[in-house]
Amino acid sequence: MNIRHNVSLAPYNTFGIAATAAHFISVKSVAELQEALALEEYPQKFILGGGSNMLIKNDLDCLVIHIAIKGIETLEEMEESIKLRVMAGENWHELVLYCMAHDYGGLENLSLIPGNTGTAPVQNIGAYGVELKDTFVQCEAVHRETQELRTFSLEDCQFGYRESVFKNELKDQYVIVSVDFKLSRKQHQLHTEYGAIQQTLEERGIAQPRIQDISEAVIAIRQSKLPDPKKIGNSGSFFKNPLISAEAFKQLRAHYPDAPYYPIGSDTIKVPAGWLIEKAGFKGKRFGDAGVHDKQALVLVNHGKATGDDLWQLAMKIQKKVEEQFGITIQPEVNIVE
Ligand code: EPU
Repeated sequence: MNIRHNVSLAPYNTFGIAATAAHFISVKSVAELQEALALEEYPQKFILGGGSNMLIKNDLDCLVIHIAIKGIETLEEMEESIKLRVMAGENWHELVLYCMAHDYGGLENLSLIPGNTGTAPVQNIGAYGVELKDTFVQCEAVHRETQELRTFSLEDCQFGYRESVFKNELKDQYVIVSVDFKLSRKQHQLHTEYGAIQQTLEERGIAQPRIQDISEAVIAIRQSKLPDPKKIGNSGSFFKNPLISAEAFKQLRAHYPDAPYYPIGSDTIKVPAGWLIEKAGFKGKRFGDAGVHDKQALVLVNHGKATGDDLWQLAMKIQKKVEEQFGITIQPEVNIVE
């Protein structure tokens, strides 16, 4: 096995944090992953996927296993739909583009989300009215201790808003190696209800959008609001949008009549954390090299040399101020790696 030592993780996390891995291996097959997981000389192991949803606070004094297992395979081709098996190391957006090129529908609203396919189910990635779970069939994962391969059905995964069993009950127990999707080949079900998508399609004079038009609209919307991790380090939304009771929301609205919201069920309201952070005065602010994006306050950015701890201190400062001002606690959405 090709294990390297003292490897910089800067190219492997989209925040661009220059933490070091004491030991590092890139695995290209399920068998290699199983072999690496079984290495007894490295009792502590850390699994690294696309590195797009994590904040590395310190150097990692363990074996970092980078998942680089590639491949897209057609499992079953039906008249109206197709089943694809996508290996964990495939870049998510490249998968979306592959689907657009082949006219497979279902992932278009999830265009330009950074990260790899294998980590997408962990937090049930979602954007513009669509979540991964909507096209998910099953995934295969290797147990970290026994190296056994197990299949997880849609139900087994217990998907919720930015949630799954892999973040909760089974946290740090399994490594996802492949994900199966069912996508449409005909009569694509379009999700254009999100205001910004409608507006972009209208501006472009597209009355009867194809899935490719939606993908392009989503790309344009994301590019206008979200920083490109290749240019400025970031991890997308840093916080989850908090859920509050209808009563708490009534009190919020009494003070802030313009507060945006999404009703979730009868007594629960989702409030955009980006709005709370903007109202708390952080949008576009910078503390050394750790900052808040100027077009979307939900995104923390690394202007260059911020450490994981610099970004963490800023996140805590924001959390405290939002709590003081609104009585609402916002929780990080990214994984904090200690
Ligand atoms: N808003 C502000 N100020 C800001 C940011 C947002 O007032 O700085 C307001 C907007 O005006 C709007 C509302 O907040 O009224 C919602 O904003 P937006 O539509 O940008 O969506 P979001 O709730 O901030 C979520 C996801 C994004 C996803 C978008 C679109 C979470 C934590 N984030 O953001 O996901 O792209 O919806 O569906 O749910 C990600 O997870 O990395 C991510 C980017």
